[in-house]
Amino acid sequence: MRMYSGRTTLSKFLIEQLNDAGDGGQLAGLLVDMAAAVKTIAAMTGKGALGGHYGGAGAANIHGEEQKKLDMLADEAIMDHCEWGGLVAGMASEEHEEPLQIPPDFQRGPYLLVFDPLDGSSNVEMNVSVGTIFSVLRHGSEAAPIERDFLQPGVRQIAAGYAIYGPATMLVLTVGKGTHGFTLDREIGNFVLTHPEIRIAPDSSEFGINTSNERFWEPPVQRYVSECQAGATGIRGRDFNMRWIASMVADVHRILMRGGVFMYPRDTKFPGKPGRLRLMYEANPIAFVVEQAGGAASTGRGRMLEVQPEALHQRVPVAFGSRHEIERIERYHAEYDGGTDKPYHSPLFKERSLYRTES
Ligand code: AHG
Ligand code: MN
Ligand code: MN
Repeated sequence: MRMYSGRTTLSKFLIEQLNDAGDGGQLAGLLVDMAAAVKTIAAMTGKGALGGHYGGAGAANIHGEEQKKLDMLADEAIMDHCEWGGLVAGMASEEHEEPLQIPPDFQRGPYLLVFDPLDGSSNVEMNVSVGTIFSVLRHGSEAAPIERDFLQPGVRQIAAGYAIYGPATMLVLTVGKGTHGFTLDREIGNFVLTHPEIRIAPDSSEFGINTSNERFWEPPVQRYVSECQAGATGIRGRDFNMRWIASMVADVHRILMRGGVFMYPRDTKFPGKPGRLRLMYEANPIAFVVEQAGGAASTGRGRMLEVQPEALHQRVPVAFGSRHEIERIERYHAEYDGGTDKPYHSPLFKERSLYRTES
């Protein structure tokens, strides 16, 4: 028996999925270039402390966050692999305030590529899983793109995905025909289809949120989480489990594998910032992947993919995952906004506290 027969490599899969794209294989070509960048980043992150890549790069990004050496190396890897082939008109990255122009030596192509080169990079030195997130949009003109050209709602994405650098490196992507996962065969260097047609169950009993921010959340989010925490003794009537890796790609990957909810809501910790995560290169690509897997992706007050972006680096509240749970979170927001919910008080702060004996 042939050991590797029956394997579907990423290239074969893309040729089959995109044979009706009518673009002469250009989108498949771009995704193969992106996969090559991911392999380069997997090699760098996989060396861990031996790679000499740990530590800060000595600069901050537009969000005021320290850029790590690995953030910048991952950023360069994606630019190097994707700018030369005449497939992209321009790119935009978390690590650059302005859109990236294609060097004059190379031709421009039909697509815009937007990416978070290394998501969760604050974890990388602890050897916790990190990832890369990317989104592909169409560029409607021959001219070099400017910021306004990138500001398309997520429904206009034609491909999106993420890579997770965990015990195994995986690439999970969609071109609008379901969500599919590929595992990197390190010896051979191929991504192999291992998780076709990923589905997120509509119900779940697992949630992920940074509960240290609880006092800064809005009441509908406090209500949802406190009901999960009350478990079998509360109105949900069943116990919930909590998971938080603080690396969105890893947290979302768990949801794609076994259901659940991931939230990073709006909070008042940093007034004026509508959430922690960024719409164009974190929320939208993940929302596309989640929806294509049968899950839901919301701001709490509407479908993520319909948000009209106003700036390349804008932030947004996010709730991703099992459809019925996301619908419940949206309902709690609507009831709160409409004034029809019962007044909610966190059990942590009200007088009749969980932590005090009732008299
Ligand atoms: P990045 O490393 O690209 O800046 O993104 C980090 C994000 C996301 O991955 C994660 O869910 C969140 O930040 C973690 O936030 P906390 O520090 O509040 O846990
Ligand atoms: Mn990120
Ligand atoms: Mn990042």
